Amino acid sequence: MNVLDKLRSAFGNATPEGGDRQAFMGAVRASADAKFGDYQANGCMALGKTLGKNPRELASAVREVVDLEPLAAKPEIAGPGFLNVRLHVEWLSEALAGLLGDDAHGLSAPKTQRTVVVDFSSPNVAKPMHVGHLRSTVIGDSLARIFEALGHRVVRDNHLGDWGSQFGMILWGWKNARDDAAYEADPVTELARLYRLAQDRIKAGEKGVEDAARAETAKLHAGDPENRELWQRFMPHCLKALEAIYERLGVRFDVELGESFYDPMLANVVEDLTQRGIAEESEGAVVVFVDRKKAPFIIRKSDGASNYGTTDLATIQYRVKTWNPDQILYVVDHRQGDHFKQLFAVAKTWGYDKVDLEHVAFGTILGADRRPFKTRQGDVVGLESLLEEAVAEARKVVDGNSPDLAPEERARVAEVVGLGAVKYADLSQNRISDYVFDWQKMLAMNGNTATYLQYAYARIQSIFRRGEIRPEDVRQRKPVILLSHAAERGLAVRVLRLPEILELAANELKPNIVTDYLFDLANAFSTFFEECPVLKAESAERRDSRLALCDLTAETLKFGLSLLGIDVVDRM
Ligand code: ARG
Repeated sequence: MNVLDKLRSAFGNATPEGGDRQAFMGAVRASADAKFGDYQANGCMALGKTLGKNPRELASAVREVVDLEPLAAKPEIAGPGFLNVRLHVEWLSEALAGLLGDDAHGLSAPKTQRTVVVDFSSPNVAKPMHVGHLRSTVIGDSLARIFEALGHRVVRDNHLGDWGSQFGMILWGWKNARDDAAYEADPVTELARLYRLAQDRIKAGEKGVEDAARAETAKLHAGDPENRELWQRFMPHCLKALEAIYERLGVRFDVELGESFYDPMLANVVEDLTQRGIAEESEGAVVVFVDRKKAPFIIRKSDGASNYGTTDLATIQYRVKTWNPDQILYVVDHRQGDHFKQLFAVAKTWGYDKVDLEHVAFGTILGADRRPFKTRQGDVVGLESLLEEAVAEARKVVDGNSPDLAPEERARVAEVVGLGAVKYADLSQNRISDYVFDWQKMLAMNGNTATYLQYAYARIQSIFRRGEIRPEDVRQRKPVILLSHAAERGLAVRVLRLPEILELAANELKPNIVTDYLFDLANAFSTFFEECPVLKAESAERRDSRLALCDLTAETLKFGLSLLGIDVVDRM
């Protein structure tokens, strides 16, 4: 059940005359401080301004008519015109009892099920994944999980860059500098070496390399048998290397339709756009002018080659035809912002005006020097070695904290803690901002980290172990949940917020709304745990009630973390 939704519609029904219902509903939110109740409706201030009325008077008029039962009694008017809502404790207690052992965590089927395509990860293959790919992979995976949890239909699509100029460089390298034995031994490493070699020579300004590499790409696209055959040979190895990383990260895709898949459709796209008079010729190229004052969107270069933009148009056409999505999310670096702005504008003119196209942009991962994260040698950080290091760092923490666990167990815990730390550090940022990669911070036992949340979960499991009680037994006994202590109440209100949080995160496409919530929940648990004895509670009823609160917290933490692609362990 979505408490915020219920309160919003109740306040919506009480919107003062002349006020905007949506805006008034939007101004209902959870209170930051229990002093101001559990939720507040703050719309009267803005409304007072637009209507030229006294906000406190508006608030009392709203208070007269609003009906919040059975959730809460009449709201309280505070300050210049806030309406503070305090949920009935009996209602809270019952709602919570209903959640105990509920595998759906209080989520119900959506009013209208949407189909969402999530275009994420989408690395350029043929070079190893690096730290820059982490954000798209982790953010996209989390958004997909959140939409799925809300009951929407999700298509996870890895739009692999398997057709671009990097293949030309590899082909050039293959023909000019390959080491057959090295390729036999480890194809991916050899291909990566060839790619880097070509790139370095081009950077160094070596004559002819760039043109030669471009010619190889053009030949590949034109269907040259030798290049096509080499492409066919290289691809499986490239995919296998990616697969290993996705496997480790627990990331999966429904489809992996790379740029090459769309190649046969490109000519039609250009023709169709030209026929409809949307595209035109300009300086030998075929382009769409989105804004005459700015550079146009190129769909066929003057040398006849189609490009990234053409492919993205064909992709939209294909996705709409295949899945008829309500929304397509592009989880891509913010530096591609202009590309997507133009792409979406062209798609709209082309007739794709019903599907909601969203660029889910994100910032850069920075090193301690606040410059893009590089290794000491100045190379981009490979994703594989980064994950290795995460697990090694986590192992130090686990070895320090739990020397009594068996070594294999510690290794397993380190994997969960290390990967969790890296993912969480990324997801807990407002995705638009850059963030500084810092092992110490991301593995801190205290603070807004996965480690802290995983630790809270493990601590709850240890309460059950120490009491020799199984959570299932408490669930079965269906205890009455007593909320007389402020810390119990605080925890209860937060556990109930999960559905509204997921809804907010999905609307704003921001996993950090989920991380902030989990952090807040774990803090509320920590307060509860300090102030309310569980195993030593004064009565058996109290004890069961508190065990139920522990279980609900643990299950919410576990589920919430799973939506971030993060696991938990029972001991750490
Ligand atoms: N392969 C591209 C890159 O690495 C990202 C692709 C994003 N998706 C898309 N449909 N353009 O920059």
